[in-house]
Amino acid sequence: MAYTQLTMKSRGFLETKRRDAWWLMPAVTFVVFGSFIVYSTWAAFQGANYSWGPYLSPFYSPEIFGDSPHALLGKIPSWIPAWIPFSPAFLILWAPGGFRFTCYYYRGAYYKAFWGDPPACTVGELRTGYRGEKKLPLIMQNIHRYFLYLALAFLLFLAYDVWRALWFPDGAGHEKFGLGVGTLVLAVNVILLGSYTFSCHSLRHLVGGRKDKLSDSPFCQKAFACTSAMNKKHMLFAWLSLFWVGFSDIYVRLCATNVIHDFRIF
Ligand code: FES
Repeated sequence: MAYTQLTMKSRGFLETKRRDAWWLMPAVTFVVFGSFIVYSTWAAFQGANYSWGPYLSPFYSPEIFGDSPHALLGKIPSWIPAWIPFSPAFLILWAPGGFRFTCYYYRGAYYKAFWGDPPACTVGELRTGYRGEKKLPLIMQNIHRYFLYLALAFLLFLAYDVWRALWFPDGAGHEKFGLGVGTLVLAVNVILLGSYTFSCHSLRHLVGGRKDKLSDSPFCQKAFACTSAMNKKHMLFAWLSLFWVGFSDIYVRLCATNVIHDFRIF
């Protein structure tokens, strides 16, 4: 059989024959994801204006210690030295942050956007060797499945916050059932974060079976098919939930600082 010997020529950094705008998605990812990291870090350091009435910002939920009525264990303990900057968000934000940071989709996106490794498919990169994610430090990304367990627990807290957001103080020391725009904002937040979490690649493995084999259980097979179908939209859920969780914090913060007034639907 006739054959031709082809020699592979390695490309220089950013060298490519592509004529499309391959740099656009990494650039958008850099701006949007970078802005989210900057904003969420700023919001976490504020330690104030994270709750208003029955609403609690998702960046601070669950509030373990804090000054708001949502705090599960009461005020900030006195044994925490005053010189240590403290915010209730510090105790919890690492979990959803770690879940997002180790997400299979985001990894592919921010490896390209933040350090160009690779910049895009068939675009030359700086490195000549490929280590994959089998060695330190990137092998740490395998922790993702454990962050998934935490993310599932966080969804329960956020759903409970929506329930709490239906009960408004009536001014006479009681609570009255109602619905505000903020309630809807927090409800959409749970739906989007739930869609992002339930479309997680690791969840497919968790529900589908063990040791690279699909379970024989019809329930597991259905669950696997369902999470697999959702996984096709994982990128969409990733961006929508990122945007909305930031927006939810902004909404509560603007209500708490009296910049806007929450509209009560009933
Ligand atoms: Fe994206 Fe698990 S793969 S959250």
